[in-house]
Amino acid sequence: MKCTRCHERAEINLRSHHTAFCRSCFILYFQRQIDRTITKEKMFTPHERILVAVSGGKDSLALWDVLIAQGYHTEGLYLDLGIGPYSAQSREKAERFARTHTVPLQVVTLAEEAVSVPTAAQFTHRVPCAACGTMKRHFFDQAAIEGGFDVLATGHNLDDEAARLLGNALHWQTEYLAREKPVLTPTHPRFVRKVRPLYRLSELETAVYAFFRGIDYVIEECPNSVGATQLFYKDILNRIEAKMPGTKLTFVQEFLRSAQPLFVAPDGSPPRECEVCGMPAFAAVCSFCSLLREVERKQDNAERKQAAAGVWQEEPQNRRTGEGGREFPDSPIPDLKR
Ligand code: AMP
Ligand code: FES
Ligand code: ZN
Repeated sequence: MKCTRCHERAEINLRSHHTAFCRSCFILYFQRQIDRTITKEKMFTPHERILVAVSGGKDSLALWDVLIAQGYHTEGLYLDLGIGPYSAQSREKAERFARTHTVPLQVVTLAEEAVSVPTAAQFTHRVPCAACGTMKRHFFDQAAIEGGFDVLATGHNLDDEAARLLGNALHWQTEYLAREKPVLTPTHPRFVRKVRPLYRLSELETAVYAFFRGIDYVIEECPNSVGATQLFYKDILNRIEAKMPGTKLTFVQEFLRSAQPLFVAPDGSPPRECEVCGMPAFAAVCSFCSLLREVERKQDNAERKQAAAGVWQEEPQNRRTGEGGREFPDSPIPDLKR
């Protein structure tokens, strides 16, 4: 098979586009697709400062790579969620990418700034992804506004968008469908524009781009995503795509062109600012701060119960202060007295 552009030997066949590319033409195609999306959707201009949320995975690192190559002013933001070896590995990939490209990367360690995802899930009895989503949104928004950025870019790809669209359409989540856009304009002065420049590029295309560019990324998925509904939708969409190439792109593009404008978004502007953290909020305390309060309250209760039962343990390092454990109380068990 020959490259559609230069007629050299093709290395990738894009059935959904009826094209095949050699390595260098594919890199050019991928970068141009992003460039076109940024311009067409008016995502940002070369004069604006972009905060790129990087997870250490292929999508966000491929996006950052393209933005750097195109000369945009970028800075990376990595959130260390504290999810065991998965977080350690993904952090290392994000930090290595920043070092080799000599670009700034801000790292926020949740266990120090707030609470790790596993601890939040454990004490609130929520599924980890729910606690994680609340904290990610908070730290993305906070880092973007406090760093004076014009826009926050994430690496959501076509497969993510198609799966989200399928899920929302299956349940007729009209409010979500109304907000499902590749560019979200801020609904509060302390929010910045949010953009998804990869929304027309598939997971396969970003993986191939990352491979061709020698980007070292974390291959494992987050352990909490095992069995997630989103993965099930992705699997179904992949099966449809295998039989009818191009379906995913048409599904998302046509939704945005003809169906999405029919859904009316209710006024989503947060009416106030959180009295604890100052970020936009719908109640006196934002959802992030109430999550933290709940964790702190339940941790205190658990400690009190343990102390009453004569059991002591080192305090987990997960309070906002980031400080380590406090002094052990005198143990009622003589052998354990320090
Ligand atoms: P996900 O929700 O895990 O599919 O990730 C979607 C996008 O959110 C990624 O492409 C990144 O842009 C961003 N993201 C996810 N996890 C992190 C993280 N730990 N730190 C910074 N950005 C992240
Ligand atoms: Fe949030 Fe897995 S990335 S729980
Ligand atoms: Zn708050």
